[in-house]
Order: sequence, then structure tokens, then C-alpha cells
Amino acid sequence: MTGHGLPDDVLLVHGGTPLHGTIRVRGAKNLVSKAMVATLLGDAPSRLYDVPHIRDVEVVRDLLELHGVRVGEGAEPNELVFDPANVESANVDEINVHAGSSRIPILFCGPLLHRLGHAFIPDLGGCHIGPRPIDFHIQALRQFGAVVDKTPQGMHLTAPNGLHGTKLELPYPSVGATEQVLLTAVRADGVTELRNAAVEPEIIDLICVLQKMGAIIKVHTDRVIEIEGVPRLGGYSHRPIPDRIEAASWAAAALATGGDVTVLGARQVDMMTFLNVFRSVGGEFDVLDGQGIRFWHPGGELRAVALETDVHPGFMTDWQQPLVVALTQASGLSIVHETVYEQRLGYTQALNQMGATIQVYRDCLGGTPCRFGRRNFMHSAVIAGPSKLHAAELVIPDLRAGFSHLIAALAAEGASRVYGVSLINRGYEEFEAKLAALGARAERL
Ligand code: EPZ
Repeated sequence: MTGHGLPDDVLLVHGGTPLHGTIRVRGAKNLVSKAMVATLLGDAPSRLYDVPHIRDVEVVRDLLELHGVRVGEGAEPNELVFDPANVESANVDEINVHAGSSRIPILFCGPLLHRLGHAFIPDLGGCHIGPRPIDFHIQALRQFGAVVDKTPQGMHLTAPNGLHGTKLELPYPSVGATEQVLLTAVRADGVTELRNAAVEPEIIDLICVLQKMGAIIKVHTDRVIEIEGVPRLGGYSHRPIPDRIEAASWAAAALATGGDVTVLGARQVDMMTFLNVFRSVGGEFDVLDGQGIRFWHPGGELRAVALETDVHPGFMTDWQQPLVVALTQASGLSIVHETVYEQRLGYTQALNQMGATIQVYRDCLGGTPCRFGRRNFMHSAVIAGPSKLHAAELVIPDLRAGFSHLIAALAAEGASRVYGVSLINRGYEEFEAKLAALGARAERL
């Protein structure tokens, strides 16, 4: 911390230079971390390629190692090999070192119950974008037969009578709760039917991983997933889907700065909804088949749009913040209705401080009334543009909002101090090197 109570990891960003060049995205953070947890379920080694060097991966690797999984580097760069031959109970104090650092530990519940008959899960972390309850997870685990004991330190779980397939319906298609059910049901006794499941590409990719391990999982229409439990699973070898959140973040940065960025690894099929909006705003892109996607600002005015975030195949909530920075440069009134998280617009205050005109509302400003409409959450925004952004002192609040602050600083006139930049390492691999490769002028203070 600095003398003023600000984080001491500071980036000085000189704005006003359009980003130009080529960068690469690796395996999706939100698949890689889950595929790593899945290795616990197998009785043979697993191999994961294209693993990004990010903090979330380090946390999960550490937790796996604490539970006896041997993790080593593979022959390829960014390849990890996991050997779960000696899975064992970990020391609670050692696990607790990771309290508050990630959301992933909650997904250890099912695999550890299968392997050891008990589990301890530390207090969770992750981004502060709302209360982020885990009630769906706990309800699901109890339905499988787990006994969950919540203590101030964390959660202790046991399964005195084993875990049994069950019929579940999620109140909302939660990504994490769907993964929880998958990772528990694959080795539970009998069949599990999950209704109102999330079907994000990262979840489908996790299903592919589990299928490689020997699981039987059927994805039906209308968000129904059926899992037939099997008595044993083996290892897997998998190349994950690319990180579509990171890809969209760089695309938004290209648009907001008037630049031209090629994102190697980005895949059209996972980003179709984003690409439609990008085009509506006035951005151009070229799908370089098998290689990536080039995103650029063609010059001239950008257009305002109305959009709602939603579960897949809707517009991802994680694409919202980076794109809003670009929308501050569009002519007219853009409307954003955030329907996935109740508090994901707090970062707009910082943009206003930089000269943007963004007003947030409690009302549902979109075609679909959402869960937050009558619950007093500021979850809609109107963005009036174009606005000239100027430099400011910014403190990074969470991962995606943090990257948006960075984009705003890059688009603004003058030099901004961005405090707490290390948070961005949770989900963006080597972002400072990538900024440099794109010609951004940014230096650590
Ligand atoms: C995953 O979070 C991602 N994180 C998030 O990305 C992403 O924004 C989110 O899915 C939505 O796509 C990871 O994969 C690690 P949810 P998750 O359960 O699984 C409510 C990033 O920056 N809910 O789908 O935690 C919840 O409050 C992160 O990479 C309950 O009410 O999200 C939210 O409103 C940020 N009870 C909604 O469901 C529960 O038990 C969707 O959350 C669980 C969720």
C-alpha cells in the first residue's frame, strides 16, 4: 500500500495512442481452471495444453498440489501434466492460505468427496461484482447426499452414504453450479438430470474433457443435461477453447483507441454475439480462419447501441465493461441492461471521472425484465457519447472492470495512474507485454 492507502502496484499509462499489432490468447481461464479440478476425478494422468500463465491457474495448481496431485510441465510450452495417483487430504491451514483468492475451490467439493469421502473448502474470493452466493451449489451437493457443515473458516463436507444421482433444477442457469453438478454427477451412483443448466462454450468444453475421461453426459435441448454416473474415470489430453473474454477485451481496446488489433487464437463461433454488437457499433473485423480475428476501427463515427447481457448464447456479462469504454466514443445514447450480476456497473463512476457521461438506473432498461428490476440494484446504464476522455487516477476494483479502466486510460488524453494493476494478472496473461507489443506507452512506477 502507498502512504495514501492505495495499492502500490501502479501502471502509468500514457493515453492517446491507438493500439496496433498482434497478440495471442491462450486457453480460456474459465475452462482451464475447471479442467484442472477435473483431473482429481481420474485414476490416470491428464494433460492440458495452452494453459495461460495467470494467477487463477496458480491458485488451482497450488490447491491440487496440496491434495497430492503431482503437477508438472509438459513437453510443449504452456502444457501442464497432472498425476492424481496419490490424492490425499490437505491441511486446513494450508488450504486456507487461498481463502478469498478465487471462486474455483468450491468446485473441489464433488471430486474430493468422491476421492476422499470428505472435503474442506476455504472462504471464497473472486471479483466483487455482487454478493455472489453459493446457495445453488450447496443445495445441489445436499441433493447428491453430501452433508455440508458451514464454519467461520470454511465448509466441511462429508458423504456418509456416498453420492447418488438426482433430479435438479437450477433457479438460474449458473455457470458454477452447472459445473458443480457435472463434476459431482459423473462419478455419482446412478443418473442425474439437471434442468435449467448453463450451456456456455466453456461448459461444453468441460463436458468434452469429462467425456474424454470416460463420463457419459448427454446435452439435450432446452438446457437439460443428463449424466450417467460411472464407477471410474481415467485421464484426458485436451486443448482448451480460447479465451473469448480476453479476445473481446482486446477488440474493445482496439475500438476505443481507434486502433487495429489481431487476436491470434480468437474463435468466431464462441464470439458470434460479441461480433454482431461490435459490427453494429461500427467496428470492423476479419475472421482469419484457423488463426484468429482482426478487429479495427475503420475511422469515422461509432454508433450507439442497446444491449442486454445474458447467459449463453446472449451477450456475456464479462464483455460488458470493456465494450462500454468503446461506447463512450459512439455518437448518441447507448443502453446497457446487465441481467447476470446485480452490481457490475460500479466501474462507470471512474469513466465519468475521466469525462464520460454515463448514468446508471435501477430500472430494467431492456426488453426483458430481469431478477434485479424490483430489487433496488443499479443494473442499467445509459451512455451518452462521444466523450473526450482525459487522464485520471484509477484504482482497479475487479478483474474485468480493471481491464476497462486500462482501456479507458489508453483512450484518454494524458497520463493516468492505474493502481492495483496486479489484479489484472488473475485473468489476463502477460498483459503488460501485450500492451507493449501493441505500441501502448505504459510503465510500472
Ligand atoms: C462464472 O462465474 C465466471 N467465473 C464469471 O467470470 C462469469 O462472469 C460468470 O460465470 C457468468 O458467465 C468463472 O468461471 C470462474 P454464475 P460464476 O454462477 O460461475 C447467481 C471473470 O471475470 N448465483 O453463472 O460464479 C450469481 O450471483 C468471472 O472471469 C446464485 O444466486 O457465475 C449471479 O448473479 C467474473 N447462487 C448468477 O447466478 C449460486 O449459488 C450467475 O453466476 C450461484 C450463482
